[in-house]
Amino acid sequence: MAIPPELGDLDPHQNESYSYLYNPEKINGEFTGKHILSVEQFARPDLEILFSAALRIKEMFIQDDPRLQDICRGKVMIAAFEEASTRTDLSFQSAMFRLGGGVAAPVGGWKFSSEYKGEGGVDTLRAEACYGDVIILRHPDKGSTYRAAYHIDQLVARGDIDTKPVLVSAGDGVGEHPTQALLDLFTILDEKGRADNLIITLVGDLKHGRTVHSLAKLLVQYQSQNIKINLVSPQSLAMPQEIIAYLEEHGVLVNQTDNISTVIAESDVVYWTRVQEERFTNPQAYEAIKNSFILTPSVLNQAKPDAIFMHPLPRKNEMGSLHDHDILDADPRTRWFRQMENGMYIRMALLAAVTGRLDRIYQWKAT
Ligand code: NCD
Repeated sequence: MAIPPELGDLDPHQNESYSYLYNPEKINGEFTGKHILSVEQFARPDLEILFSAALRIKEMFIQDDPRLQDICRGKVMIAAFEEASTRTDLSFQSAMFRLGGGVAAPVGGWKFSSEYKGEGGVDTLRAEACYGDVIILRHPDKGSTYRAAYHIDQLVARGDIDTKPVLVSAGDGVGEHPTQALLDLFTILDEKGRADNLIITLVGDLKHGRTVHSLAKLLVQYQSQNIKINLVSPQSLAMPQEIIAYLEEHGVLVNQTDNISTVIAESDVVYWTRVQEERFTNPQAYEAIKNSFILTPSVLNQAKPDAIFMHPLPRKNEMGSLHDHDILDADPRTRWFRQMENGMYIRMALLAAVTGRLDRIYQWKAT
């Protein structure tokens, strides 16, 4: 299990994944203190705990229940976003504030952390671990969250810190985005009333899109029955083979195509994604492919009346012009803003769970 210290840096130039060296614990009904790195940690009963907590929290939030403020009172969350983010960052921060906890991050942004003057990423992480109960890490390297979890555990094992902070992945490069998948599955359940007997179509940059990697695997973890997943992308942006193999091994019917019109009319859920420009090393390759799949109002018109359209956002070329955005947004089948809202409830539930405070929600429910 040892990771040589010289390889343990969070240097963005080291692209190696350490997932084969660090095994995140399965949740198995107990969230407290567990790092959240991959959707593979969750089984259906864990997801049910989290989703019902999110619903309860939503209810309390809408009623402006002041007891929400007691759930994470005294807890501190470090927002360690070393890569661009709007929704994930703000929803985690809002989630912690609304639960009565606090949020810390360098006041001038991460450019003004000591990494800016040459500190190694692992030492920055160790500082975060000394001050936070929860560290939300987004980083451009696949596997960076695994390395971070390893180094936190080392600090604790060596007795350098007395309490173990929890690391929650907010996206590790092209790897996973587990909390996005949680909110996406929650949204599917909320909107469609089920996650079984569905045709789910994932469109766009399936190679670099960590949200679709996590969502596809989470449907397996949830044991969704009788689902078909259409994977729509140009060949060069296809879903990684290991994820396709994982789906097929678990009985999911997978159909790969580069032609959206062959699958749009049968789809119950259409999940569109942005071509991930920042992952391309060759700008010409991005330019050549950026307009491959555009969700226009005419695509929407070919879908079932009760289909739902999802997108993790932000959106760029893949949703046409600003005028097209307005038309798409006005269609009740497009659910991306609801996804954003759900993200806060899911993250509130997860923060309560990993800090061992989930029981507070139910104590009050009983009274
Ligand atoms: C996604 C991400 O960062 O992976 N955004 C998000 O978290 N809502 C998708 C993207 O950036 O395209």
